Amino acid sequence: MEKKKYLILTFGCQMNVHESEKLAGILEKNGYEVCTNATQADVVVFNTCAIRENAEQKIYGNIGELKNIKVAKPDMIIAVGGCMSQQNNYANEIMSKFPYVDIVFGTHNLADFEALLKKKIETGKRISSITEDETIALRDSLQIARTSGTNAWVNIMYGCNNFCTYCIVPYVRGREVSRPEKDILREVEALLKEGYKQITLLGQNVNSYRGKDEEGNEISFDKLLADIDKFDYKFRLRFMTSHPKDLSSEVIDVIAKSKHICHGIHLPIQCGSDKILASMNRKYTTEKYLKLIDEIKTKIPDVELTTDIIVGFPGETDEDFEGTLDIMRKVEYMQIFGFIYSKRKGTVAEKMADHIETKVKKDRLSRLLEVKNEIINRKTQEMLGKTYEVLVESFDEKTNTLYCSLDSGKTITVKGTKNCIGEFVDVKVTSVRKSVIYGEIVNTEDIANFKEKNFKYPIEVSILPKDQKGLKLLRENKKNQKAVNDLKSKK
Ligand code: 5AD
Ligand code: SF4
Repeated sequence: MEKKKYLILTFGCQMNVHESEKLAGILEKNGYEVCTNATQADVVVFNTCAIRENAEQKIYGNIGELKNIKVAKPDMIIAVGGCMSQQNNYANEIMSKFPYVDIVFGTHNLADFEALLKKKIETGKRISSITEDETIALRDSLQIARTSGTNAWVNIMYGCNNFCTYCIVPYVRGREVSRPEKDILREVEALLKEGYKQITLLGQNVNSYRGKDEEGNEISFDKLLADIDKFDYKFRLRFMTSHPKDLSSEVIDVIAKSKHICHGIHLPIQCGSDKILASMNRKYTTEKYLKLIDEIKTKIPDVELTTDIIVGFPGETDEDFEGTLDIMRKVEYMQIFGFIYSKRKGTVAEKMADHIETKVKKDRLSRLLEVKNEIINRKTQEMLGKTYEVLVESFDEKTNTLYCSLDSGKTITVKGTKNCIGEFVDVKVTSVRKSVIYGEIVNTEDIANFKEKNFKYPIEVSILPKDQKGLKLLRENKKNQKAVNDLKSKK
């Protein structure tokens, strides 16, 4: 008998992508197999994001586009989970706005998805299940259908206690809960044995990890990193995200001495004005942040720093914004993710005076992007002629191109063969065109010995790390009216 099919559309951050791997694991355990088009799917799951308003609008648009298919295929189950569903009253809103959605579940209900799906199939009734129980997140003996190529994500903690005044995360992800160290070490070791080449530790604020070892002693993040670094495999260790207020000297020392930890650190500054940082409740000043950067650069001279910045937070003046540009130039980030402030219901900033008008926010973002490009272009030009150890992540058969990642996460493009995937190679940067970095493999004599490996890629399955891909898929469905008509005529 043909297997039933599932499609997961993922929006938002790496945490969500990884949680989609867990949802895929549940579905595969229940006999479903992945497909790439909603017209073929028996179950479609939206794993949603609430970080900014435009994420929500995109998701609503996408759910709306499924209506047509559901009419043609009434047995198809549509589930909506993740951060958007977890927000106060959203579950009701989703249920009433989209009468063809069958299941709504929250961030704490992930492990319940199997039971919810079975209940829906047995009873035919629509179900909405949102809980506030944060310990549920720790019931993570879930099977994981990994889809991220050479990289494997590993949760080390869930939730956030920081309550930055703009941020919805603490409301939809709850308070911090750390996994026991032994569970993390066991998972990492199994992944390394399986052949994964990069482990990315995930948490909203990994620096405040407070786990326990087997004797019940408290384990801090630097200790966890040092323990993972002891594994005797060839691999790269990353983590995200760090809060500057909690990145300790001990963590920097462990990174400096380690064999495996990437010299790429993502350290969101958010803003370069002390007044706005205080109003954001970030708990550091620009002076303190720059001191931390100095310490990092001194101890790890080849560090590649990346950051997040919000423009147009309530009360931000031109002068405050100039402070942000100033700090960008001082730190010389390798990558900067700039966002326009988005008002989130229930956060402290929602009620603040002096919200900034959209035009000013957009102008500031364009200015930020200009300065960002200046910095990054300069930094990439400086790479010319230098050699870096990179991880080969994927291969394009048509052009014999290998896509390799640097410590900062940036990509270098080189010519090569498929057997290089999953290997670490030395690449010399030969040219930079339109911010694409090209290079050539230096240690070519090693290539003949590389064996072909079999990693699963996001492209080949339906878990889409970029929401744009999710959108494209559904747009194709919409265009693909013929498929819908065929379904209708089959009925
Ligand atoms: N508006 C705009 N950007 C936000 N971020 C978090 N909340 C908001 C918001 N309300 C950004 C921060 C964070 C990144 C993941 O998203 O920069 O670091
Ligand atoms: Fe949001 Fe701040 Fe927590 Fe990051 S540290 S998830 S920005 S509240």
